[in-house]
Amino acid sequence: MREFGNYLDGEQRTARDGGWLDSTDPSTGQVWARIPASGAADVDDAVTAATRAAEPWARTPPMQRAALLRAWAGEISQHVEELSELETRDNGRALRETRMGDLPGSSLLVHYVAGLADKITGQTVQLSPQSLNYTAYEPVGVVGVIIPWNAPLAMFFAKVSAALAAGNAVVVKPAEQASCSILAATAMLERVGLPKGLVNVVAGDGPTAGDALVAHPGVGKISFTGSTDTARTITARSVSNLKRLALELGGKSPNIVFADADLDAAAAGVAAGIYTGGAGQACIAGSRILVQAPVYAEFVERLREHAGKLAVGDPMDLATAMGPIAFAEQYEKVRSYLELGPEEGAELVFGGGTGTDVVPAGSALAGGYFVAPTLYRVPSNALRICQEEIFGPVAVAMPFETEDEAVAIANDTRYGLAAGVWTQNLTRAHRLAARIKAGSVWVNTYRRIHWAVPFGGLKESGNAPAGGVDALHEWMDLKAVWIELS
Ligand code: NAI
Ligand code: MG
Repeated sequence: MREFGNYLDGEQRTARDGGWLDSTDPSTGQVWARIPASGAADVDDAVTAATRAAEPWARTPPMQRAALLRAWAGEISQHVEELSELETRDNGRALRETRMGDLPGSSLLVHYVAGLADKITGQTVQLSPQSLNYTAYEPVGVVGVIIPWNAPLAMFFAKVSAALAAGNAVVVKPAEQASCSILAATAMLERVGLPKGLVNVVAGDGPTAGDALVAHPGVGKISFTGSTDTARTITARSVSNLKRLALELGGKSPNIVFADADLDAAAAGVAAGIYTGGAGQACIAGSRILVQAPVYAEFVERLREHAGKLAVGDPMDLATAMGPIAFAEQYEKVRSYLELGPEEGAELVFGGGTGTDVVPAGSALAGGYFVAPTLYRVPSNALRICQEEIFGPVAVAMPFETEDEAVAIANDTRYGLAAGVWTQNLTRAHRLAARIKAGSVWVNTYRRIHWAVPFGGLKESGNAPAGGVDALHEWMDLKAVWIELS
């Protein structure tokens, strides 16, 4: 069994009280590694180390910070194979996605962020000849970063590079279900010359290690990606020092297909939008499929064809499009929605199978957490399977008649993360982009995220767009200086 230590003040360490948590390979259900079960004392050690590192780093000239980040980006590109395999073993995300997408993309992202480090500028406010007024951005200090289990490395590299470019030190708390790839990735930090204590990673449970980080008075801000419910808990716990919170949360995103759409392209895009990207375990999963009535039946048939072509199985096989659900509790959660759907009056269109319905009985995968790509036709958007984030390869489909009706259903959700619109009608595309309350609207495409384009949620999907040229502002404090000249 492999062991991955915390990374604290530049050293590998176990938890102070010696506790460990098991990490499971979700494609077999077997424990394959263990990680520290850190507590408040470990988090406090990490915050102390980060506090020490923060000030000299903030004074390091931005061009020097950028150079170190570029070295890190280069190092990431040297370790794509090893890190993608670790992540796929740990959370079941298909190697096709970690190796071809997340890891190479992370290296490019860190290059982009390095380019922002030396372009931080304030403004001069021309208020009156008697005063000089200017603004300046400065680092927050120590930032806490809390990461979920669906795409750990991609989030680690994106958040930590932005925090460092802005001049902060960080304490990272990865998800207890999938920490191994992040803990392994810390080995390269010192090699590229980043100072000790600048980046610390403390593994452990959310309610213990995560809570200690959120409540710690030495942490100025928390950057959190995860569920909307946990965000509520964190919000309540952050009051100790009224720390700032950057939240990237869940979604129940509509993917809307009009009768005038290129139906082939739409079916491929809609299927990929819910069934791949971690087998539907993605905040931006297009889980509500709205189809204009005249093409509803035809479109659903095309969707069935596309879903049928997706290979479900061993995530280590590059031919696999859909690996397992990342861990046992999440698997049970998805299965509970497969039971709930029909009880609520949803009609199964395809899929619905789990475990050995999907992978061969008697194979190594028989103990894994597999779910078939699934579609339900629903009588109303009010069903719980239409309103609650399932976080698996399970979508609902419903027909609509008019554009107004499509917009009303699309917006009938507490979430506001993303939306897809498939139409050949240019003016309709713009009307919908304006009317749908979501942080990202994709037209004739879906699930497109790029570091140069801001990404974030509205409503209960979050409050902190990441990416784009202004991305570092999220990691800095704005200061105003007034100099009296009279
Ligand atoms: P979660 O939101 O509880 O976990 C995310 C991170 O928060 C983990 O690192 C966890 O340890 C930490 N955390 C949990 N409780 C905490 C606390 N009290 N204080 C500080 N940190 C805490 O998500 P969970 O329970 O693993 O998944 C449940 C559901 O959340 C999923 O079924 C899915 O619907 C949603 N989710 C959404 C994600 C997204 O990308 N938007 C990512 C992961 C989960
Ligand atoms: Mg695991």
